[in-house]
Amino acid sequence: MHKKTILDYETVELDEATDELVIIDQTLLPGRTEIIRLHTAQEIWDAIYLLRVRGAPAIGVAAAFGIYILAKQIASKQDMHNASKAADCEQDFEKFYAEFVKQKDYLNSARPTAVNLSWALNRMDRLCRSMSDRPVSDIVDALKKEAIAIKEEDIRVCKAIGEYGLTLVKPGDGILTHCNAGQLATCKYGTATAPIYLGHEKGYNFRVFADETRPLLQGARLTAYELHSAGIDVTLICDNMCATVMKNGWVNAVFVGCDRVAANGDTANKIGTSGVAAIAKHYGVPVYICAPTSTIDPDTKTGAEIKIEERPAEEVTEMWYRERMAPEGVKVFNPAFDVTDHTLIAGIVTEFGIAKAPYEESLRMILDKKEKRYRECSGNRA
Ligand code: MRU
Repeated sequence: MHKKTILDYETVELDEATDELVIIDQTLLPGRTEIIRLHTAQEIWDAIYLLRVRGAPAIGVAAAFGIYILAKQIASKQDMHNASKAADCEQDFEKFYAEFVKQKDYLNSARPTAVNLSWALNRMDRLCRSMSDRPVSDIVDALKKEAIAIKEEDIRVCKAIGEYGLTLVKPGDGILTHCNAGQLATCKYGTATAPIYLGHEKGYNFRVFADETRPLLQGARLTAYELHSAGIDVTLICDNMCATVMKNGWVNAVFVGCDRVAANGDTANKIGTSGVAAIAKHYGVPVYICAPTSTIDPDTKTGAEIKIEERPAEEVTEMWYRERMAPEGVKVFNPAFDVTDHTLIAGIVTEFGIAKAPYEESLRMILDKKEKRYRECSGNRA
């Protein structure tokens, strides 16, 4: 009989019967698997800020479900017209939309670096505005469908990234990853872990090294946990051990996720990624960024423009320790992300193919491909 593992749970889900956002509380893993249900703006904001749900794609999906849930609450609180006369629809829309934007901006303020948060909320917002002449109840129904579509797309996108990523490695390879860009950061497969999961299904026997990822230990608590649960050969290392495993010749490729990719290929990801990439360059190990196109931000020209989230000092000084491990009052610098220079990146693996340097050009081509596919699909639907 199949024993239930963490991979059998949904990272982010909508309970359609109760209109609640359902997530695994990732702050408790791996010790406890607790499923929590959220329905107020404050609960959803807190869950994103506190990393109960985390990882760029999962944050995007949670925000999409979250804004749908809040939109439904706004509509039911407001006294909408029953009729579908154009003038009534317009009046209702204005009242509804003013509140919708407030809630959207509030959710968007939870974390600044992962572009998927604003990407998903803006997509929901665009849909909302495109229906300004329709009854609010229709808009709320459409928002629900869109949020479900965002989740379903995430699964397809991760699988495609896995297929492209798998072409970059061979059976028996050693792969190093940093942070958690796994199933727990997405709706299935993960991004950086997608080639690993797909290779595992084909019997590739990868040897994976998971950096523990200080200070919040996403590598130890989440990546090592999910890969180990899947029966993959994973070895946990402290962040300062990556040079050793590379020097030993145990690593053939680095796969990491990302929170925002600038137009020139500079990539924000969990703090420590740029150090891994610099060391990998020294040892001739290629670094691949696994990036859904929703994480590519063409409006950000270079990494210098990416806002880096800073988090509480306690994460460094005392969290996880039985007692505080730093002197009281010591200054702490705790950026949650860093930017890896595009010159350290061997390729950016997307669902539309692998972008190589020069990235301005190759990323533009990838985004054009996506736009073309989107136009073809909407043409087919029309
Ligand atoms: O602070 P976190 O845990 O949300 O940071 C997550 C990462 O940096 C991931 O690598 C990134 O979001 C990609 S997840 C597919």
